[in-house]
This record gives sequence, structure tokens and C-alpha cells, in this order.
Amino acid sequence: MAKLKLGVLGSGKGSNFRAIADAITAGSLEAEIGIVLSDVETSGILALARERKLRAEFVAPGKFKTKLEPEAEERTVALLREAGVELVVLAGWMRMIKAPLLAAFPRRIINIHPSLLPAFPGLEAWKQALAAGARETGCTVHYVDEGMDGGEIIAQSRVPVLPGDTPEKLHARIQLAEHALYPEVIRRLNAPPARAHA
Ligand code: GAR
Repeated sequence: MAKLKLGVLGSGKGSNFRAIADAITAGSLEAEIGIVLSDVETSGILALARERKLRAEFVAPGKFKTKLEPEAEERTVALLREAGVELVVLAGWMRMIKAPLLAAFPRRIINIHPSLLPAFPGLEAWKQALAAGARETGCTVHYVDEGMDGGEIIAQSRVPVLPGDTPEKLHARIQLAEHALYPEVIRRLNAPPARAHA
């Protein structure tokens, strides 16, 4: 099977990136990371990518808090294209994606979110789940569209909320589920379509 070329975008510590990179190294995911991009110059994800000798670039986001400035998004598209990226993987990316990037990779941008969408979109979804008294939460991998955490759902994994949970404990449990689910979904997206029985 041809190796799928990934471009990973993240703003944070990069544990989902690490899970994907580890799955590739372990041979359980036939893919290659072409480039890692971050809107946060000091992010863990850039440091982890550089440790692994992957191409890792900071993209200055511009003046907005919730999206990239159009020039920054154009630069992101150019970098992803130049790296030959086929699938854009958002891994802790905390900005909305807009038209130029969506148009450049139609149905080829996926995101992981720490809740069972459509429940608890937005920031710190694990805290929202605790505050709502949910007994179960989880994580969702979905296609990205113009909305916030609203695109078509590809796969979900359930995680119990346990008595005595703190936000940190619950998020850590959700992250374990994320680290298993994300590489598995990428693997499935790259699998040839199941052959019909003759
Ligand atoms: C993950 O829990 C991911 O689901 C969440 O940020 C964390 C990033 O962790 N993403 C969102 O909330 C996006 N709406 P990581 O940097 O360790 O992968």
C-alpha cells in the first residue's frame, strides 16, 4: 500500500502527533509525516517533531485569536502542498479552518476532539462534560468544515466519567483513547475500499 503523506497541525503539547508518529515507527500505520505546522512557536508539537528530524515550521497566525489571518492560511496551504501532503491531520489545533485551506484539501482534513460530538464542542470539552454531570464522554475524529467541531463524524471512542474525577484525570483518560483512535482512523482512511464479493 502506498504511504499516505500526512501534514500535522497542532498548537499544544503534541501527544496525538506523538501517537501517530509512534504508530508509523512501529509499522502499524503505513504513512509518512511530510510536515508539522504550528501557530505557537514554543509548542511541544514543534519540539517533538524536530526531535524526530521531521520538517517543522511555525506559521505566524496574525491578529485573530480563533482563525489564521488569510495570508497565514495561504502560507499554510503552500507549505502543505510543497510537502506533498495528502491528508491534513489536526492534532490539538485550536483555530478554525477557513475557505482557502478547506478548498485546497476537500474532505482531506480531519480533526480529533475530546468529547462525543455533537456534545461539548469548543474549548476544554472534558471540563464541559464534568460540569454537565455526564457519566460518559470520549473523543471524536471528524472531517473538518467551516463550523466549530461540526463536520461529519468518522469515528468515536467512549470513555467513562468516574467518581472523583478531576478535569486533569478525565482529560488524561480521554487522551489515552485519542492516542489509540487517531492512528487507527488514519489507517482506515488509507485502506483500499473493501472489495465486493463476486
Ligand atoms: C486533545 O485532547 C485534542 O482532542 C484537543 O486538544 C488536545 C491536544 O492534545 N483538541 C481540541 O480540543 C480541538 N477542538 P495534544 O497536543 O497532546 O495532542
